[in-house]
Amino acid sequence: MPNGYFITFEGLDGSGKTTQLRRLAAWLAASGRTVVSLRNPGSTPLGDRIRSILLDSRSESALGGITSLAEMALMFADRAQSIAEVISPALAAGSIVLCDRFTDSSEAYQGAGRQLGSQRILAMHAAVCNNLLPDLTILLLPPLEASLVRARRRNHRHAEKEGTDENRFERESDDFYTRIHGAYEHIAAREPHRIAIVANDDGDNSIDAIELRIRALVTGRLPHD
Ligand code: ADP
Ligand code: TYD
Repeated sequence: MPNGYFITFEGLDGSGKTTQLRRLAAWLAASGRTVVSLRNPGSTPLGDRIRSILLDSRSESALGGITSLAEMALMFADRAQSIAEVISPALAAGSIVLCDRFTDSSEAYQGAGRQLGSQRILAMHAAVCNNLLPDLTILLLPPLEASLVRARRRNHRHAEKEGTDENRFERESDDFYTRIHGAYEHIAAREPHRIAIVANDDGDNSIDAIELRIRALVTGRLPHD
């Protein structure tokens, strides 16, 4: 059976994951590769419903508040479904799978942000995702402030245009995001072979410069035909 290649994008809200994922997908497709793109949460019928429960700030009052453990479990329910419906079949067919967020997000947001602890997240990952690991994780860690300003601006534009509300996480405190930023650094240090940081406090963090760094990284890692 042919083996695909699994790449995930990670970072804070507004760090540029979606922008870079789209650019990489277009570039790989233009070079003749079969690419399957998705996001967590979302990208399956069940996942889209879970996404709207998780991200809609109105869910908080409508559901009487989502507990941290319920939030974690919903993230993993979404992920299990996306693995079964999208990721595993695409990898088995030999495609390159690009996923906007995966289990590192749960470790950073629920494990550190909500303070549930890494061990609980890694145990869920083993139980629910059969420990499926990306071949490569592209981590975007520009300065915290820059990410948050961009995410808030984008969410307001989106809400005005689409009339949908994806703001629940946006209202979290600076401490919450500082813990997430630190967790990402910790995860990257723990797994340096899988995780590459392509934007940090130094250097040129323009969209084009980051795109070129990602292309070089992926070219060096992708199995050749
Ligand atoms: P994410 O998916 O990580 O939340 P997005 O790709 O949606 O981030 O980017 C958030 C906003 O910031 C978008 O309006 C995007 O155009 C802009 N943006 C993305 N990358 C950069 C960058 N390197 N420099 C400046 N603005 C950026
Ligand atoms: P996403 O739409 O990818 O956010 P953004 O484009 O702003 O980076 O993800 C939505 C939110 O869900 C984001 O705030 C991170 C959060 N999230 C978790 O808390 N845990 C998870 O496991 C995942 C996948 C996302």
